[in-house]
Amino acid sequence: MNPKILVFLLVASLQICSIAARTDIDDVAAVKALKGMWENTPPSWEGQDPCGDQWDGIKCINSRVNSIQLSSMGLKGQLSGYISDLQELQTIDLSYNKDLGGPLPTSIGSLKKLENLIMVGCGFFGPIPDSIGSLQQLVFFGQIPPSIGNLSQLFWLDLTDNKLEGPIPISTGTTPGLDMLIKTKHFHLGKNQLSGRIPPELFSSDMRLKHVLFDSNKLTGSIPSTLGLVQTLEVVRLDRNSLTGPVPSNLNKLTNVSDLFLSNNKLSGPLPNLTGMNILSYLDMSNNSFDASNFPPWISTLQSLTTLYWNKLRDRSQLIDLRNNLIAEYSPIPDKSKLK
Ligand SMILES: *[C@@H]1O[C@H](CO)[C@@H](O)[C@H](O)[C@H]1NC(C)=O
Ligand SMILES: *[C@@H]1O[C@H](CO)[C@@H](O)[C@H](O)[C@H]1NC(C)=O
Ligand SMILES: *[C@@H]1O[C@H](CO)[C@@H](O)[C@H](O)[C@H]1NC(C)=O
Ligand SMILES: *[C@@H]1O[C@H](CO)[C@@H](O)[C@H](O)[C@H]1NC(C)=O
Repeated sequence: MNPKILVFLLVASLQICSIAARTDIDDVAAVKALKGMWENTPPSWEGQDPCGDQWDGIKCINSRVNSIQLSSMGLKGQLSGYISDLQELQTIDLSYNKDLGGPLPTSIGSLKKLENLIMVGCGFFGPIPDSIGSLQQLVFFGQIPPSIGNLSQLFWLDLTDNKLEGPIPISTGTTPGLDMLIKTKHFHLGKNQLSGRIPPELFSSDMRLKHVLFDSNKLTGSIPSTLGLVQTLEVVRLDRNSLTGPVPSNLNKLTNVSDLFLSNNKLSGPLPNLTGMNILSYLDMSNNSFDASNFPPWISTLQSLTTLYWNKLRDRSQLIDLRNNLIAEYSPIPDKSKLK
């Protein structure tokens, strides 16, 4: 081949490469703004082309920054609000940079493609921006940050269906915890991987909780009797965990509860006596290890009950729909007149 043509082809292909790799101009500015507020960024963070120069921790698709993964890098500083200019971002992992903190910028809520926001082990504080609620694909990983306990005005804590693991944090005197959220009305923590016991310190009579939804986790230990102190409760879901032991006898003090789910655990002892829970309408106690029992007589005193599941035999649940007089899989048949 003619050497001149070869040189030309080489130059042309180099140019094509660099054009393809050149980072979108807005993304360059945004990454530089992030860098400007951080110490200890990787040494490769030099120049004008994060995508083309393959800056450590930055991945790109078609010249747009798609992920920033800088876990455990010893980063120091705050998160720049310019992060929201990285409109193609799907993943932000800044976990375990303990000197990275400050308020989480509200603009993060405009990252429409963000799926993974991993900030465990960082020092971000202050209110979680409202805009986080608009991140439809957001998945929280790691442990529930104890600092949520500092959000004393929080009305609704909804972390349902994420990948949270570890314990439910309670305050220790030096660190905050969810027990401090005495104005909060909703604890929605269902469908995660939370483990450990439900801390008795979590609940107190000062609380104003309406919903405690802890279903589908990996919680163990017994149901704390302090739950019975939260008289404002209306819906309690502890189902689909590995809870053991007897149900605390003061649970029937929760007279405003309409829906109680205790099913799919390993609860034992006698069926709880729920006399007094006069607006209880839905009760599921099935698939536990309660003592075998006949139709509990107190059930007939629950005037609002429409649906009841419980097990006499392990792994076999019975349904009684009192409203429709439907009684399925129960033997012996209870005296229906008592159920009115
Ligand atoms: C929680 O608030 C207290 C008191 O305002 C403050 O000293 C502490 O640093 C905060 N903790 C976190 C983790 O934000
Ligand atoms: C129970 O519910 C009623 C009716 O909604 C309400 O007026 C009352 O304050 C509730 N009790 C508690 C302890 O929250
Ligand atoms: C019963 O509950 C256990 C958890 O305690 C669960 O693993 C099992 O799948 C449940 N069985 C049925 C039939 O739902
Ligand atoms: C259930 O509790 C009520 C009220 O505390 C009591 O009167 C009743 O005897 C108890 N029933 C059973 C079967 O223990």
